[in-house]
Amino acid sequence: MRLVEIKEGKARIFIPDPKEYEKNGKFDPSWAPVFYNPRMMFNRDISVIAVSIISPKSIIDALAASGIRGIRYYLESNSPIEEIIFNDKSKVAVDLISKNVEANGVKVAKITNRDANSLLYEVITDYVDIDPFGSPSPFILSSVNAVKNGGYIAYTATDLAPLEGSAKKSCKRKYDVNNSKLSFSKEVGLRVLLSKIVREAAILEKAVEPIFAFYNDYYYRVIIRVTRGAKRADESIEKLGYFYECEKCGFSGSSKDPIEKCPRCGNKVKISGPVWLGKINDDSFVHKMIDYLQNFSYIKNFEAVSILLHKILQENKYPPGYYNLEFIASKYKINVPAREKIIECLGDASQTHFSSKGIKTSKSFDEILECMKTLSNKV
Ligand SMILES: C[S@@+](CC[C@H](N)C(=O)[O-])C[C@H]1O[C@@H](n2cnc3c(N)ncnc32)[C@H](O)[C@@H]1O
Repeated sequence: MRLVEIKEGKARIFIPDPKEYEKNGKFDPSWAPVFYNPRMMFNRDISVIAVSIISPKSIIDALAASGIRGIRYYLESNSPIEEIIFNDKSKVAVDLISKNVEANGVKVAKITNRDANSLLYEVITDYVDIDPFGSPSPFILSSVNAVKNGGYIAYTATDLAPLEGSAKKSCKRKYDVNNSKLSFSKEVGLRVLLSKIVREAAILEKAVEPIFAFYNDYYYRVIIRVTRGAKRADESIEKLGYFYECEKCGFSGSSKDPIEKCPRCGNKVKISGPVWLGKINDDSFVHKMIDYLQNFSYIKNFEAVSILLHKILQENKYPPGYYNLEFIASKYKINVPAREKIIECLGDASQTHFSSKGIKTSKSFDEILECMKTLSNKV
């Protein structure tokens, strides 16, 4: 395997030379013997900042591939890390991790060549990173088992089709959620994932508190805090519910139990659930992320991370679900007014990082419609 050296954050690592695995001039990271995707750098940048705040002593990078995540946590997070377990079931990956760990002077590394699930049932740690191909579902129970009381887990999910309701049967299989494609599907997907995590954790009588969660590019990333206690787990379960959206008038909302008819016009609604209806971001953690970001002026995504953090802070105060302006406009056969104008008209509203066509607000659907109709006449 020919290797090339790349730089990401403060790490310099070796990866398989992409040129060797091109097909018809194209390259997909999954075609190489060890996976490294530069498009996930943003995900890792955010994770490094989050780990700086969490400040764990022990970390498990359970699906480590090249080892880039764990190496960056060691080099950049300024945490008092005493041990990082780098694990991958692939022998080629583990050999490359050894080389990369040595090249970056990671003195606290323990490298294992195990199935992640069996490893996670044998260890206890402060922070687990689950960064799989596709769905993290197969690793939820074991990762919750592996984390200390008050510890943290970060999950990536790249299987957007089931999560957003395009692949309903797959969503039922992987997340045990009856999903539908709703106009605000990007947020539905994140809340489907959190619902699954909450229900799995409850099996082990553990409660889940989302600390930081977002959508970007082709994936979701969720960081949760896990605490022990059957009563707490019950309280987490209490925050599950259903999204609905009317196929006729476009009205949408959330409810504790599934409903069949639109509360506004009485027509049939599409539903998705159970979904997580609690907070998806912790305000004080996001504030800290914004403060800590100043220590990371060297990262390539500095500006983009800053924009995301500020958007998340703005939108976090609003109820679950966003309004897709194009969807509403199409229902009422009106032009879509500029998003900023609608936000200004509503007063109490914000953009959402989930969609450039969406807004979040605590104002009613009819107030949004009123603003849109008035502004649309002026377009
Ligand atoms: C998406 S890659 C990880 C990427 C890496 N975390 C990064 O940031 O670049 C997923 C990795 O999980 C490994 N893997 C898949 N199933 C596994 C399992 N059951 N146990 C351990 N490793 C597994 C694969 O070999 C692959 O290297």
